[in-house]
Amino acid sequence: GSLVVILALVIGGGVLWLWSDAKVSAAGEDTFRNELAVPPLAPSRVDNRTGRRVFDLRAQSGETEFRPGRKTPTAGFNGNYLGPTLRAKRGEKVEVRIRNGLDEASTVHWHGMHLPARMDGGPHRMIGPGGSWSPHWTVGQPAATLWYHPHPHGETESQVRRGLAGMFLVDDDRSERLALPRRYGVDDLPVIVQDVRFDGAKLAFGHKLMQNVGFLGDRTMVNGTLDPYAVVHDERVRLRLLNASTARTYRFGFTDGRGFALVGTDGGLLGRPAAMNRIQLSPGERAEIVVRMRPGDRTVLRSYPQGNYGDAWQSRFNGGDDTFDVLQLRAADTLRPSPSLPSRLAGQELPDPADAVRERYFELRKSGINGRKMAMDRIDETVTRGTTEVWTVHNGNGMPHNFHIHDVQFRIVSVNGRKPPVQLRGRKDTVFLPNGTTMKLALRFNGGPEFADPGTPYMFHCHLLYHEDGGMMGQFVVVDKTQRAAATITGNHSH
Ligand code: C2O
Ligand code: CU
Repeated sequence: GSLVVILALVIGGGVLWLWSDAKVSAAGEDTFRNELAVPPLAPSRVDNRTGRRVFDLRAQSGETEFRPGRKTPTAGFNGNYLGPTLRAKRGEKVEVRIRNGLDEASTVHWHGMHLPARMDGGPHRMIGPGGSWSPHWTVGQPAATLWYHPHPHGETESQVRRGLAGMFLVDDDRSERLALPRRYGVDDLPVIVQDVRFDGAKLAFGHKLMQNVGFLGDRTMVNGTLDPYAVVHDERVRLRLLNASTARTYRFGFTDGRGFALVGTDGGLLGRPAAMNRIQLSPGERAEIVVRMRPGDRTVLRSYPQGNYGDAWQSRFNGGDDTFDVLQLRAADTLRPSPSLPSRLAGQELPDPADAVRERYFELRKSGINGRKMAMDRIDETVTRGTTEVWTVHNGNGMPHNFHIHDVQFRIVSVNGRKPPVQLRGRKDTVFLPNGTTMKLALRFNGGPEFADPGTPYMFHCHLLYHEDGGMMGQFVVVDKTQRAAATITGNHSH
């Protein structure tokens, strides 16, 4: 018995060794040897006194066995790597009781969430080691796949890289009635994609690997699982793709050429499903896709080269290749039938550029936005609550960047003067801008009086975290007509 086990381990080790040389191999069974882990749904309870749905999150460090017998130092929420999936419904009041069990200061930011700046968890809302913070808000936006991660100024890349991230799913009345796959972990799978590189047992993370775009790994994992496969028992499966990598952009498709339906982008469902073969996601972006399976099918979600300027930057640590096999789907021999996709999904709730009262311009450079590096005590933009604006964003910096704005879901009005492609027509909070791109975005700063806060800024930044940490970030406040931005920023930042 034990001899067989040892033999299996030796052969397994050999395959692993070969695998690390041949990053993309034939999509054989032994390539995908680990069943995909699914982050648990976070338990919650409704507090009778406040009426809030309460979640608990504890940031902690620990060890994760990504590879058999090798313990890798990592960090996570309520566990050793990544965090549970939070789930709440539009209209619900939520509260998250966060404790920082790390030995360094951190924050928790709700990426894509529309919420008052004081609850946003940006770099001003630091939680010291052993400290706690309990933000609360009313979920006031359509069903969407959002996420959470730390946002300490200058340290975001290293903390996310170690595993501090998780999903936050928002449901609404309509999404609960739609004939889309929505049994979490069964036919509705979170797919948190990260690139990774090992240095012995440790996660590699060093300045040698961080030129220009930031840290790049040489292999990928999903939900913290290396070489993952997922067994599918339904005819249709929904994948909630999240690029939680710190620098790498992916272009996903299936190795057997099958298409899929794009049903949602960062901030929610599209008006109707869109048939696609490839979907590109830069760090921070999400896409919900529905894939159709036949009994016994095998297919691999692969990331293909971008076919644009980004590849040269991304592949420099990968022998010039920019292809990754991300996740194998294995259909069972019999599948439960799924209803066909609805032709109408959602009303999109997109801002109208015709309502804009103000335009602003943002020039993206690695050295800063509009020529300025992030400064914690400087407000860069002041916007008025209840108004719509058009923001023009340009990247002529010779390297890839993206652009993320806190609090809002924007509409992409144009890309280099043209109507955006279908994957950029829905609600977005993060968008990829390859070199030479100009985009016009329409944003609406809505919400009740609690959203006007001259003393607490929201962030806008490049979500290539090395750039963000290096100062490619700015701050805006939302104020009421009669207010002006406060001369001093409140919050507890302690630098
Ligand atoms: Cu995903 Cu400012 O962050
Ligand atoms: Cu950038």
